[in-house]
Amino acid sequence: MLLTLEGLDGSGKTTAWEALRDEYPDAVFTREPTDSWYGDAVARSMRDDDADPLAELFLFTADHADHLSRVVRPALADGALVVTDRYTDSRFAYQAASLAESYLAGGRDPLNYIREIHEVFTHPPDATIYLDVDPETAAERAGATNKFERVAYLERVRENYERLVDAEPERFVRVDATRPLPDVIDAVRDHAERLTADR
Ligand code: TYD
Repeated sequence: MLLTLEGLDGSGKTTAWEALRDEYPDAVFTREPTDSWYGDAVARSMRDDDADPLAELFLFTADHADHLSRVVRPALADGALVVTDRYTDSRFAYQAASLAESYLAGGRDPLNYIREIHEVFTHPPDATIYLDVDPETAAERAGATNKFERVAYLERVRENYERLVDAEPERFVRVDATRPLPDVIDAVRDHAERLTADR
């Protein structure tokens, strides 16, 4: 089973992922961007305020392809539970926001375009826990350490996450991440327990 954690920066997602890691010692815990050299290339691009958004999309997507073949698919083939801190929805939400101000021929919708790129090769998540927080709180908590953490940008990212939830309500579980972190972690724990018990 493939369980993904998604949400804005500062939603408590990584802390929740760490809490789950302690509870599921046999599961494979992973994240995107990865720590491979593709992930290093992504990190370089994130530090560059002038990075071309389309080039950046393909760097993140290359990192995802490598993550899939090297980590995710082998673990799933072994029958493992895979829990990942960010996955495809991060691209659909973040890079669609980056591309919104950019060029796409024929007035193509960035989110649909990015989904199409992934459709032909990715492994879709079985379930996604979405940590929902308002952009102001997210930016404040994250401390705006990278270009993706600014309020106006995060507003667009959040709208994209909402589109994704609307499109596949059965895949998503929403957690109110404006609550104190211990409550958020408890909620994630409860959902994870229920979702994995169903399998
Ligand atoms: P990082 O600090 O490594 O992770 P986090 O903030 O989740 O602990 O930064 C990851 C940043 O990259 C985060 O701002 C979201 C962004 N991102 C994308 O824009 N697209 C993607 O596909 C992924 C995986 C992340």
